Amino acid sequence: MSQTAKTRVLTGITTSGTPHLGNYVGAIKPAIEASQDPNVQPFFFLADYHALIKCQDPKRVQASRLEIAATWLAIGQDPDNAIFYRQSDIIEIPELMWMLSCVCAKGLMNRAHAYKAAVAENEEAGNQDPDKGVTMGLFGYPVLMAADILMFNANKVPVGRDQIQHIEMARDMAGRFNHLFKGQYFVQPEAVVDEKVEVLKGLDGRKMSKSYNNTIPLFVSEKKLQKLVRKIKTNSLEPGEPKDPDTCTLFQIFSAFASESEALAMRQQYAEGIGWGEAKDRVFEYVNAHLSAPRERYNALMEDPAHIEVVLQKGAERAREEAAVTMDRLRAAVGLGRFV
Ligand code: TRP
Repeated sequence: MSQTAKTRVLTGITTSGTPHLGNYVGAIKPAIEASQDPNVQPFFFLADYHALIKCQDPKRVQASRLEIAATWLAIGQDPDNAIFYRQSDIIEIPELMWMLSCVCAKGLMNRAHAYKAAVAENEEAGNQDPDKGVTMGLFGYPVLMAADILMFNANKVPVGRDQIQHIEMARDMAGRFNHLFKGQYFVQPEAVVDEKVEVLKGLDGRKMSKSYNNTIPLFVSEKKLQKLVRKIKTNSLEPGEPKDPDTCTLFQIFSAFASESEALAMRQQYAEGIGWGEAKDRVFEYVNAHLSAPRERYNALMEDPAHIEVVLQKGAERAREEAAVTMDRLRAAVGLGRFV
């Protein structure tokens, strides 16, 4: 199958945090698995322009970009197959964002979740100005995301449920642009939400999230991992009492890594009343055994940012080869082409 006939699967990760087990289970692992399909051309990128919307700490943004890039490579993403790049290296993306901004209705952006949530917060706090603290970056966030997707004519975009609306907005902008400029400039992307992928719970039992400060970073040291697993909230049932795996964070983390038969065996242990201390040791050992090889690769990659830079530059080159051609075509379509 030629490259152009392959289904294009594209996804980005905002670079404002340190990857944790929740990111791994919810996004990284499924994306890498999907990219192993020979009929798929994967595009993975570090959404570092998106990071600037929420994070004005340059050290954090810079560290997160490196950590996330090293994570993807350590886990086994093949940069010769996937086109792997930093959003900010593709200078055509902000240009496309501007073109899309000029066909995107403001009213559409008024309905975006992130913006609406900010307004609701201001209203609840009794602020006079409902737009207090809202930047144009936050307001126009879905236009930047549409540019990411439409630039490469992605067919499928694996995302979390909270992002479906943004893909619909990208479809809207694609359709409007095609209609206004009378051509098939963009394909309509589709959101892919994996029903099987669970939202992993964190140390306190709420959704694992940086904003709750309840995460287990993916590549902490073995000692720290053990300490964190021991901190996972359980109930007061004694050893010998049967326990419910389905409401248990510890079991959920275990089964994210385990095979079906291993998960089944652990279920049996819960029914037989395994003690929490022992269960925690078992889960730590299991998860640690799975993470130790990628952790070594991750640590080596973190020591060698020059290597990561080369990989990303190569990815940017591949991506820009296509982006430049697309932008020439779009410039001509809107009346910004060369005179001769
Ligand atoms: N907004 C996405 C998130 O926060 C990240 C992202 C940016 C993205 N651009 C994208 C995801 C394009 C998919 C496609 O999760």
